[in-house]
Amino acid sequence: MFKWRIVSALVILNFALFQVYGDFDYLQLVLTWPASFCYQPKDICKRTVNNFTIHGLWPEKKGFRLEFCSGGTKYKIFEDNMVNDLERHWLQMKFDENYAKKHQPLWSYQYRKHGMCCYKLYNQNAYFLLAMRLKDKLDLLTTLRTHGITPGTKHTFSEIQKAIKTVTNNKDPDLKCVEHIKGVKELNEIGICFNPAADSFHDCRHSYTCDETDSTKTLFRL
Ligand SMILES: *[C@@H]1O[C@H](CO)[C@@H](O)[C@H](O)[C@H]1NC(C)=O
Repeated sequence: MFKWRIVSALVILNFALFQVYGDFDYLQLVLTWPASFCYQPKDICKRTVNNFTIHGLWPEKKGFRLEFCSGGTKYKIFEDNMVNDLERHWLQMKFDENYAKKHQPLWSYQYRKHGMCCYKLYNQNAYFLLAMRLKDKLDLLTTLRTHGITPGTKHTFSEIQKAIKTVTNNKDPDLKCVEHIKGVKELNEIGICFNPAADSFHDCRHSYTCDETDSTKTLFRL
């Protein structure tokens, strides 16, 4: 009797762990808008770029984000061409070039926190190649510009969302805002979601950090 209880507890535990670490429902590619990211605190960025850059690629379940999963292999420092490719797509803005290339602090942290949660589908190399490929599929800066949303202008949440949805097969992005200036929400990041195989778009869960009621306009900082 007692033994059976232990066995069934183990079976349930095993199932729960499989649920958490074994799979995910979709991937969120999170792109940072550097002008907003670097604005405050002052000097947070050693380097910047006038384009969206990758923050991370996050495996998620329907109701929550997977983080710090075990089971995968430790981050291995990249060498050669991969370092330069990653620097172009996934700029480690808080660090100067030499330090960033040598220690790869943002990449290794993102891999530990998020990448290991999809190691069964994507090993380290595949994970980083996938993030870069997905970013290259989308030129959000041009998409926004085509809809009159240029750096330095303000628009409603709906206007920005509508513009992005023209390139995501009408799936919802997650627009993420910060409030550097009191009362002014500004666009800080855009999350775009994909199915696990990353061959089609998926709705993102909203973070509700922007003013989705459209009663104020969201700043796209210059
Ligand atoms: C911005 O990044 C996108 C996606 O990687 C790229 O296609 C585009 O050419 C870049 N635009 C500029 C102005 O650098």
